Order: sequence, then structure tokens, then C-alpha cells
Amino acid sequence: MYKSKIGGIGMYVPTNIVTNKDLEKIMDTSDEWIQERTGIQERRIAHRTNETTTTMGVEAAKIAIDRAGITAQDIDFIVFATLSPDYYFPGCGVLVQRALQMKEIGALDIRNQCSGFIYALSVADQFIKTGMYKNILVIGSEKHSFGLDYTTRGRNVSVIFGDGAGAVVLQQCNNESGILSTHLHSNGNDAETLAMYNPGTHANYWKKDLASFDEATIGEMFMSHSMIDNAQNFPFMDGPAVFKKAVVKMPEVILEALQANNYKPSDIDMLIPHQANLRIIQFIQHSLKLADDKVYNNIQYYGNTTAASVPIALCEAWEKGKIKTGDLVCLTAFGSGFTWASALIKW
Ligand code: UT7
Repeated sequence: MYKSKIGGIGMYVPTNIVTNKDLEKIMDTSDEWIQERTGIQERRIAHRTNETTTTMGVEAAKIAIDRAGITAQDIDFIVFATLSPDYYFPGCGVLVQRALQMKEIGALDIRNQCSGFIYALSVADQFIKTGMYKNILVIGSEKHSFGLDYTTRGRNVSVIFGDGAGAVVLQQCNNESGILSTHLHSNGNDAETLAMYNPGTHANYWKKDLASFDEATIGEMFMSHSMIDNAQNFPFMDGPAVFKKAVVKMPEVILEALQANNYKPSDIDMLIPHQANLRIIQFIQHSLKLADDKVYNNIQYYGNTTAASVPIALCEAWEKGKIKTGDLVCLTAFGSGFTWASALIKW
């Protein structure tokens, strides 16, 4: 059995910065409310037409591949995590394969929202462990701005999210370092607590007789005017309900990872939590009694970038020299599904 290690890491965020003050101009919100409730000061917003979830992922991937000391031709497999794909189908993985002119390798898309990157890392880790692949490109990328309700109606969601991408190259290794374990969980009872309902196949059309459908009904099956009028094409979030679960499940899954490897919270050199809310991160930090310099935060500058948040934070922490060889690094995330996860890495 082999082990896997992060051989290269990269990130990309759009240059366009949107501050809380900018949002004050388009909806009934305030810098004070956003900072007090979330810690967010600003977020990056992708170029409306020139930047997509895939193009941002590709930029992060190029850096990760370069830092791994290989070329795109050496990648054996792609795992792409996002909730904001370029197309409804196909997924972003194949678009990365095309953009980087890679060999005709496999490309898998992961739909686990905020936990997406850790799920993707876990999948890639299994392929490396069995010896099936040697170099796997794992990407988390989001272009949230294409589909948020930037009016007062959607303010509880739209002020939180931002765009960006992070990527790693996972490589085979034989020594003590690398990914020690990953831990994945879900509970679908709360699936509708944080969700985008439409377009989706849950609509009740099939209770009717298909033969009785007229052209207008067929045309509206995928996305109807009433869905749009009721803002069902935008994400819905019961924020307090998500908050309450997140502060329980993330410490739980961190402890699970530590116990699986005979470590305790004080052994963590750097915790990289999903950047959903600074208050959630502080809850986790206090419940595990971690010092400030053992927890990395950058939500202030990027907001919540969902599948991209963990690799962006990991990349920044590493670039700033806050993660060194031999460090015990813990990743954790919680979000829509609900799904939650952790990964423990000896750097
Ligand atoms: O990454 C995916 C996982 N997501 C999360 O982890 C998010 C978890 N939840 C949260 O982070 C918090 O619940 C929020 C930041 C989303 C909201 O903070 P909160 O302290 O839970 O506020 P709330 O939803 O209870 O709303 C309090 C008030 C409401 O007004 P009333 O009913 O008290 O008059 C909202 O209408 O704040 C109002 N409000 C806003 N006011 C100004 C909601 N959004 C805004 C806004 N600006 N953007």
C-alpha cells in the first residue's frame, strides 16, 4: 500500500475586490452587520464573461502542477469539486483536461459543496494508496457570483460568498509524511436547509400525464417563470440552523481524525477550517483550545468560497511559511447536504 502527499499547491482569486461598502450601495446591508456576524470585509468577484469556475481552477492547477515539478502531461487523473459548474453537464473535470491539453485521462466531478475539496482529496488519496495513479490533480473552484441574489431579498446569502479556486497535486510517496487519514460524513435529513432547489428534477411535473403536456409546459419543466419569481433559482440557507450544526460537527470530525492517528488537539500545528464564518471558526478554536497561531483564517478577504475555501487557505498558509515540513496539518469542512469531513496530514 502506498501513501499520498501534497506535492504541489496553488490558488487563484479574481482581481476584482468587492467590499462590504460596495454591497451597501446595492442592498439593505451594512459593513458593521457583515463584519460582526461573519468577519468578512471583502470578497473577490470573477469577471462576468472571461472567468469561469473552470478557468479559475485551471489557473490554480497550473501553479500546483509547476510546484509539484511535473507537467500537465504527467497527471493521471482529475478530481474537480464545485457547486457552480460551467455547465449543468458535462462537469468541469473534462474542461480542465481540455484546457491543459492533458492525456485522455479520467476526470471526476464531486458535488459535496463546502466539504467538496476534502471529499475530492479523500477520493484521490484512495486511488494513490492502491497504486492505480501516481499524480492526481485535485481542484476546488467556485464562481458563486453568477447566481447570487444581490438584492435585499438575498442578503443573508449573497454577502457571504465569493469566487476563487485552489488546487493540489497529490503524489505517491513512501515515507512517514503525507495524508494520514480522511474522514467523511453526511446526513441528508437537512438537505433542504442549505440548497438551490431549481433547476432540479424534484418538480412535481411527473405526477401529470405527459401526453397532456402542451409546448409551454414542456418549455417550463426545467425552469419556470414562477420558480424565478419565487427566487428558487438562488441558493436558500437557514443560516442559524447551519451554524448550530457546523460548530458541533467540525470539532467532532477533527477529534475523529486525531484519535484515528493517536494524536490530541494540542498536537495540531495548523488547522485549516472551511472559511464559512469567523464566529464558527472561533467556536472550533475555543472548543479544541487551540492558540491563535494554530488556526488559519482568510475569510476576511475572500468570504466563503465553498469548495475552494480549504485549498485557498491551505495554499496561503503554506506560502506565508506557516506550514513547514513535519507539521501536523488538519483540514475540516461542513456544509450543504449536510456533509462534513476532515483530513489529517503530516506535511
Ligand atoms: O459554507 C456553507 C455553510 N454555511 C454556513 O456555515 C453559514 C452558517 N450561518 C451563518 O454564518 C449565520 O447564520 C449568518 C451569517 C448567515 C447569519 O447570521 P445570524 O447571526 O445567524 O443572523 P440571522 O440569520 O439570525 O439574522 C439576524 C437578522 C435578521 O433580521 P431580523 O429578523 O432580526 O430583523 C436578518 O433579516 O439579520 C438580518 N440580516 C441582515 N441584515 C443586514 C440577514 N442578512 C443580513 C445582511 N445585512 N446581509
